[in-house]
Amino acid sequence: MPEKGKAAGKSLLPGKIGGENIPFHIAIIMDGNGRWARKRGLPRIAGHKRGMDTLIKIVTCAHALGIGALSLYAFSTENWKRPALEVDFLMRLPEEYLRKELDRLMEKDIRILAAGELGQLPSRTQLAIEEALIKTGKNKGMILNFAVNYGGRSEIIRAIKDILLLVRKGQYREEDISEDLLAKHLYTANLPDPDLLIRPSGEVRVSNFMLWQLAYTELWFTDTLWPDFTEEHFLQAIRDYQARDRRFGNIQTKA
Ligand code: FPP
Repeated sequence: MPEKGKAAGKSLLPGKIGGENIPFHIAIIMDGNGRWARKRGLPRIAGHKRGMDTLIKIVTCAHALGIGALSLYAFSTENWKRPALEVDFLMRLPEEYLRKELDRLMEKDIRILAAGELGQLPSRTQLAIEEALIKTGKNKGMILNFAVNYGGRSEIIRAIKDILLLVRKGQYREEDISEDLLAKHLYTANLPDPDLLIRPSGEVRVSNFMLWQLAYTELWFTDTLWPDFTEEHFLQAIRDYQARDRRFGNIQTKA
């Protein structure tokens, strides 16, 4: 994993962003694909297709900017309620994305991670993700973390159950249970918490995404729908983040 803080202070893409306080880990709720399609009289899957083009663009941009980790909410545990045709389409996207992009990700030294109950995904989807996890597993550059069949509450319950089991086995004592220990049992065990969460589409909520990890994350919202989201929106979110004063419960730190 790239060192946290490595990007900070370095002038990246001069005139775009640079200077201090570059977020290391950015999380994105890729929302608004359905509305984008409906506005154009297209089927919802056309929106997801466009959403994937945006994803490819933003991954490239994040890598060029020296961002340390990008977490993308691709499919929630609630998304199974959608029509079967849409779910099937969404399930094929990781495979399609990886078929198209894996060589490029390798060239860029990007490491893929996945967060979510992968065991419940169709076997082809699981296989594609597992292959990518292995193939990119030794890469040292940007982390690209896909949340697939992910729910923040169930992630926390899962971590508690894991810890309970280990307490019963005598591997932990009750007094070992701490915030750090719980964080180590989340899907994001090896990732620092997101510094910045971006949500397009005008919805102003976190929708069960990284509930534990977002405790002190800066939130950034835009009305733009994900298929229309551009590098410029991404840069704007980062610039706004750079101007914020993160206090983590402390008093003002910026002059
Ligand atoms: C939310 O929009 C978006 C999704 C549920 C899917 C997002 C997935 C991608 C952009 C591509 C994923 C690709 C990979 C490689 C995993 P919505 O359908 O809820 O939009 P709406 O709120 O306008 O209906």
